[in-house]
Amino acid sequence: MKTALITGITGQDGAYLARHLINEGYRVIGTKRRSASTNTWRLDELGITERVELATVEMLEFGNILSVLQEFRPDEIYNLAAQSFVGVSFEQPIFTMEANAVAVYRLLEAIRIVDPEIRLYQASTSEMYGGITTESCGETSRFYPKSPYAVSKVAAHMATTNYREAHQLFCCNGILFNHESPLRGAEFVTRKITTNLARLALGDDRPLRLGNIDARRDWGYAEDYCHGMHLMMTRDNPADYVLATGTAISVRDFVIHAAEALDMQLEFDGEGSEETAHDTRTGRCILRIDPEHYRPAEVNTLIGDASKARQELDWAPKISVVELAGMMAHKDYNRLKSGAAIL
Ligand code: GDD
Repeated sequence: MKTALITGITGQDGAYLARHLINEGYRVIGTKRRSASTNTWRLDELGITERVELATVEMLEFGNILSVLQEFRPDEIYNLAAQSFVGVSFEQPIFTMEANAVAVYRLLEAIRIVDPEIRLYQASTSEMYGGITTESCGETSRFYPKSPYAVSKVAAHMATTNYREAHQLFCCNGILFNHESPLRGAEFVTRKITTNLARLALGDDRPLRLGNIDARRDWGYAEDYCHGMHLMMTRDNPADYVLATGTAISVRDFVIHAAEALDMQLEFDGEGSEETAHDTRTGRCILRIDPEHYRPAEVNTLIGDASKARQELDWAPKISVVELAGMMAHKDYNRLKSGAAIL
């Protein structure tokens, strides 16, 4: 039986990946930070809480990382733990660098000390391309980070590549474009949209408040992407792969698709921060712009080219963004209708 260690197992990707690896016959160890109450709602929803072993690890402490590797001797590590909010990284750039980049050095050094045969998956991100908006980005595209988050992820990406080349570690960077699901955190835009629209569909009258609705993202379904992470780790040789759908739509269009799934037909009026949207069927205001959600530097468009993953991993996304928006909206509607808390 292989052992996988997933840092950040309580997040969206950690939960889907854990379920996939359990189904593949792995022993799954997940790390979590020390806290008074660990939120395992995603593992609970997937019905796997009892099937994973949780270890308390602070990624800022080298000793913690070393100990968990020595104790469990994993065959594979999936480093999904991060300060993953792009907006927050402008407020907490130093913590973001520590948690997302220096922590990766700790992990890489610990692997060298404990067992250089341990394989590492590093969660890289499309945000690294940030300012490259004119082309669809693949593994060899230039990086142009536009936030402290993106800078930290470029550093981690480079460190991972360097350890592969300098120390011959089996390390893969998975450069994942935005990937969403009903398990997405409620602060990210897609889930913020679906939770708020579901609330409105059930009679609440407070409009959804968003920042830049013209930003365009290449959104895929998180579970598809977590399968792709595992495929990278089963290759004979380590390499970096982009996972993406190859199609981008705007935040505005995501709102429209999610609203349609809840029987709302939106019409937009006004411009810039004065723009609003109302439901043509009821006349109710559904969306307002709130400049508080604008970012100091925005990434306007991201489109990925996953042809390498398609060819070498036989990976392809199975769910379109329209299906995804509908799935998330329906799930949040049903959660709220049944009285469940939105987490
Ligand atoms: N969060 C948020 N809240 N974003 C908003 C809002 C809002 O109210 N209004 C507009 N947006 C815009 C953001 O400005 C951004 O352009 C876009 O919606 C997507 O924002 P997020 O959903 O927060 O995701 P992200 O693209 O910044 O980053 C996510 O995806 C990356 C790529 O996989 C995060 O999960 C990153 O950690 C990840 O690396």
